[in-house]
Amino acid sequence: MGGAPVLCGAPMPCQTPHSSRIEPATLGSIAQAARLISAGRLVAIPTETVYGLAADAGSEEAVAAIFAAKDRPQFNPLIVHVPGAAAADRLGRLDTRAARLMARFWPGPLSLVVPRRRGARLSLLVSAGLDSVALRAPAHPVAQALLRICGRPLAAPSANRSGRISPTTAQHVSESLGGGVDLIIDGGPCAVGLESTVVELLGERPRLLRPGAVTLEQLRAELGDVEIAASDARPTSPGQLASHYAPERPLRLDATDVAADEALLAFGPAPPEGAMAMLNLSPSGDLVEAAAHLFAYLRELDRSGARRIAAMPVPEAGLGRAINDRLRRAAAPRP
Ligand code: TXA
Ligand code: MG
Repeated sequence: MGGAPVLCGAPMPCQTPHSSRIEPATLGSIAQAARLISAGRLVAIPTETVYGLAADAGSEEAVAAIFAAKDRPQFNPLIVHVPGAAAADRLGRLDTRAARLMARFWPGPLSLVVPRRRGARLSLLVSAGLDSVALRAPAHPVAQALLRICGRPLAAPSANRSGRISPTTAQHVSESLGGGVDLIIDGGPCAVGLESTVVELLGERPRLLRPGAVTLEQLRAELGDVEIAASDARPTSPGQLASHYAPERPLRLDATDVAADEALLAFGPAPPEGAMAMLNLSPSGDLVEAAAHLFAYLRELDRSGARRIAAMPVPEAGLGRAINDRLRRAAAPRP
């Protein structure tokens, strides 16, 4: 989409104590949002489905900050937003099915889960360590304008606290996230009001992971056979997918000491000494920093030649819950 964005509504700027700044969608506020995102900050933006909490999808820290702001107890993979098919092709491996769906429904309320390209400039956390990535080109002119000005893919889950209802107005975002977001761009109410349809194109049969405005009938008209994933299957959760990265080496939790043939995943200022390899998630005990390093460090320690990975305890609070959830899954007995 080119040219100036068509802006929806004409809301008044609004500021209440302890709430985030809400700015009407203008070229100025969108440019400011782009600057914030380039600096690793979070901005809530309108899309045609729901408001998204957007951050640089290439930055582990920025993506970790999304999980912290949403207070998510798990690292669910997030949707990566792009302006269109060309940008999507740089991040994921797109087959003819993906090409058909993009030609028919993009930009629009459809997300495609496809294999991640090796070397794609994407955070590992954004796909929760999976080898796949969910890609969507939103149709909303404000989201499109921001994506083009930023020139980088944006991770954007719904801009609500975890477990709450998705926001369809800027005011909802402010009520749900309070001061946890640097800027909220007000583009008026969302036209669709429901999160995008999510289709997985990893196996032979396409699978509908989340129903949305692009219907099963429409998908079947393009692809023929489409399987419906069980709604309670949590098919995308870390540890539940065959393609999910789990360390090769066994993982020992709550380690307060370490053996000479172990690799230590440390946390905090005083890790025990003597490991054959050690990476510290956050020497200062910062949970956002720890989350940002988690997947990369697990991979690296797995390659260290150690017999086992020993993970130090991480506090079970805030983002620590998501880190511990992921560590417990990685330590669970393998099938
Ligand atoms: O409408 C939408 O899609 C909104 C707006 C802001 O664009 N965004 C949104 O994002 O709902 P999010 O991150 O909350 O939704 C992620 C959904 C989840 O159901 C997640 O499990 C699935 O997409 N998902 C993301 N990456 C995946 C992956 N690699 N494999 C399987 N499912 C994935
Ligand atoms: Mg959501």
